[in-house]
Amino acid sequence: MAGLVSFIGAGPGDPDLVTVKGLRRLREADVVIHDRLVPTALLDEVRSGAEVIDVGKAPRRHCLGQSEINWLLVDRARRPRHIARLKGGDPAIFGRLAEEIAAVRAAGGSMTADDLRHYRAVVRRPMRGTYRGYAIASMPLSSSGGVHLIEMLNILEGFPLGRLGAGTPEATHMMVEAMKFAYADRADYLGDSARAKLPIARLVSKTYAATLRASIDPNHARPAREIHPNSTAIVGGNTTHFSVVDRFGNAVANTYSLNFNYGLGLVADGTGIVLNNELDDFAAKPGAPNAFGLVGGKANAPGPGKRPLSSMTPTMVFKDGRLMLVTGAPGGSRIITTVLQVILNVVDFHMNIAQAVAAPRVHHQWLPDEVVAENGSAAETISGLVARGHKVRTGPTSGSAHSIVVTPQGLTGAADARARGAEADGY
Ligand code: DON
Repeated sequence: MAGLVSFIGAGPGDPDLVTVKGLRRLREADVVIHDRLVPTALLDEVRSGAEVIDVGKAPRRHCLGQSEINWLLVDRARRPRHIARLKGGDPAIFGRLAEEIAAVRAAGGSMTADDLRHYRAVVRRPMRGTYRGYAIASMPLSSSGGVHLIEMLNILEGFPLGRLGAGTPEATHMMVEAMKFAYADRADYLGDSARAKLPIARLVSKTYAATLRASIDPNHARPAREIHPNSTAIVGGNTTHFSVVDRFGNAVANTYSLNFNYGLGLVADGTGIVLNNELDDFAAKPGAPNAFGLVGGKANAPGPGKRPLSSMTPTMVFKDGRLMLVTGAPGGSRIITTVLQVILNVVDFHMNIAQAVAAPRVHHQWLPDEVVAENGSAAETISGLVARGHKVRTGPTSGSAHSIVVTPQGLTGAADARARGAEADGY
């Protein structure tokens, strides 16, 4: 199969490794590599057709994070024809594509061409909110990102975070308490809005936030079990985000997800489409954690034609109707709290965008009942949280929030150093 590969550098820089197995596929596919973002040593390896190293045995330098290898294989010969027919809305081409994708049945899957024929992309209005005079536009359902970003911002608006200061135990404690409420609501209420009536207006209302805020004790962590029942967690996988602003002020915040490394690990032959495994974003059964430790209930139960609940949070922040910030991140369950902290760092803590993106982050997702503080978090932040009764675990990096801020001097961008191969560019 002839191929075209596009590398986009973004991702949490986590230890998930896609080894030279990926490179072998690329070589077999007669790869064209665009992008200076891939480590040079690796590019040489791809080009030279060097021997393949076993998954797991590969030394780190031979490995790519999935995020750096979000590759798109397209059958070069058929691509222009396919695109012309897709643009023209030719129903036959959709059917054909559906058959090819559904050939995944050969690998044990249960997807049928009919599933794909009946699938429709839907365009939804962004979730909107406000925070300290800024307007927020973020992702609507079926991602929970926008709803809970706005819920947390609403709660935090009532606390003097800027006066307390970035990384202080006082401010961080309040952020963590807000996170717990939001993620508990996520588990209980959210799912596919086309299939269930969800209390979105209430979740993003300032009055609801005020009630939650009033129940936050500034000196003590509220145990998660006092908010809802119980579960456990693990982390993993990859997704990609990029932010773009042009000279006219048009902006894009794009997050896309295959969910795990290489998604399902299958490319539907001849289509160039890497199949995702987003099914894990459903709650397999009430209270059962998914790969990111997120639990859910009936609203997010799997079912025919349903969309799983995502955490993707591509977001824009406006001041007086003018664009101020574009951000978003990969990171599974941590996406929402990553985006939250980039906004707080800019709005409350007056950091420039490079500082805002680089500052250590904390994460709490209600269950498990623990704060994950990124390695590199200040000792004072951690001890201050522990003193308030939080269980704190230092852990790996959270998301990678490639972001742009519009300043009076022009656009300033920051690629998150948590992602290998990420870059901020101006043209
Ligand atoms: O949409 C979601 O919430 C998940 N599919 C995101 C997965 C993800 O970010 C994995 N990467 N780090």
